[in-house]
Amino acid sequence: MLMRARSSAIAPEIGSIALQNIQKRYGAFTAVDQVSLSVAPGEFISLLGPSGSGKTTTLMMIAGFEFPTSGEVLVDGRDITHLPPHRRELGVIFQNYALFPHMTVAENVAYPLRMRRVGKAELETRVRRVLDQVHLGNLASRYPHQMSGGQQQRVAIARALVFDPPVLLLDEPLGALDRKLREHLRNEIKTLHTEVAKTMIYVTHDQDEALAMSDRVAVMHEGQIRQVSAPQDIYRRPADLFVASFVGEVNLIPVKLSSGDILGPEGQSLLAAHCPTTDGDATLCVRPENLHLEVAARETSSGIKGHVTGSTFVGDATIFELRTESGLQLTSKILNVTQPKTIPAVGDACVAKWQPQDATVLTK
Ligand SMILES: Nc1ncnc2c1ncn2[C@@H]1O[C@H](COP(=O)(O)OP(=O)(O)O)[C@@H](O)[C@H]1O
Ligand SMILES: [Mg+2]
Repeated sequence: MLMRARSSAIAPEIGSIALQNIQKRYGAFTAVDQVSLSVAPGEFISLLGPSGSGKTTTLMMIAGFEFPTSGEVLVDGRDITHLPPHRRELGVIFQNYALFPHMTVAENVAYPLRMRRVGKAELETRVRRVLDQVHLGNLASRYPHQMSGGQQQRVAIARALVFDPPVLLLDEPLGALDRKLREHLRNEIKTLHTEVAKTMIYVTHDQDEALAMSDRVAVMHEGQIRQVSAPQDIYRRPADLFVASFVGEVNLIPVKLSSGDILGPEGQSLLAAHCPTTDGDATLCVRPENLHLEVAARETSSGIKGHVTGSTFVGDATIFELRTESGLQLTSKILNVTQPKTIPAVGDACVAKWQPQDATVLTK
């Protein structure tokens, strides 16, 4: 995974958000369940989760388009829970752009300033500046239908930035775009975040996007936040099985914890640096890139024994499938940079191994 410096050029002093036990019920159904989250000024935080996990509802309660059944929303310590959207001064960007079709790009972007009765000269200066920021200076007189999806989304971003809100809320803004463009705009938004030094809350179901863009990621499932951590920690130290499985690929190995031992499917002793001290059934998690295959291992070799059942060349890596003696299916990913001494072949007997620090045992 690429690491990048995450500090902003200018550290802003405003734009903190606090969600305090917010809950949203629709009849008997709880869409958002006791969510608490503190976001620092200038932070880029993602709400990451599958469809229906409550991301949009959470964001809309911050924006003011939905109101919580209980709990509070604070901006810079001020309770805004019951304020209408236009009195919150937060920039909002939706997946479907939501541009006015009968207005030019410049008119779309000027709209929030007109609503605020900003004078003509200042309005024109600010529209020009923000259009330059999103690289649309030369398209100011076009209409939305004359632009690509990526360009339209840039207009939406410009319109949200133009009145200089301390916080931008983005709901799957790249969801309608193809993969290459998504990756390109992802980088543009990240650069913009550094330039404008604003708090950004970014909703996505795309784990790569969340890991690549965020200072911190909040993983949501069934209306709850399951973990809030830096991307590296979400990936390396998932807090529960949902986070481990939703973010990245993972091998899940059923184990028994007994007086400090981790017992594998065939009763063998396994290693994991991160393990609870309680006894009982649990799951050992190890990522495919950390699962190594040892061909023709000695009888005494520790690990999990099995047979290679498949290998797939995917360019940068080869993915090996392993079937263990107890019938588990495991996946090992070996980068094609350096070839291991013995390349496993389909049918080979081998032992799957990992470094203790790369394994986490979870009980839920
Ligand atoms: N107005 C509504 N009435 C009833 N249920 C709703 C309403 N809005 C959202 N939901 C439900 O709340 C859950 C969370 O929705 P949402 O926040 O849109 O999820 P996400 O953005 O993570 O896909 C879903 O099960 C959805 O069907
Ligand atoms: Mg949504």
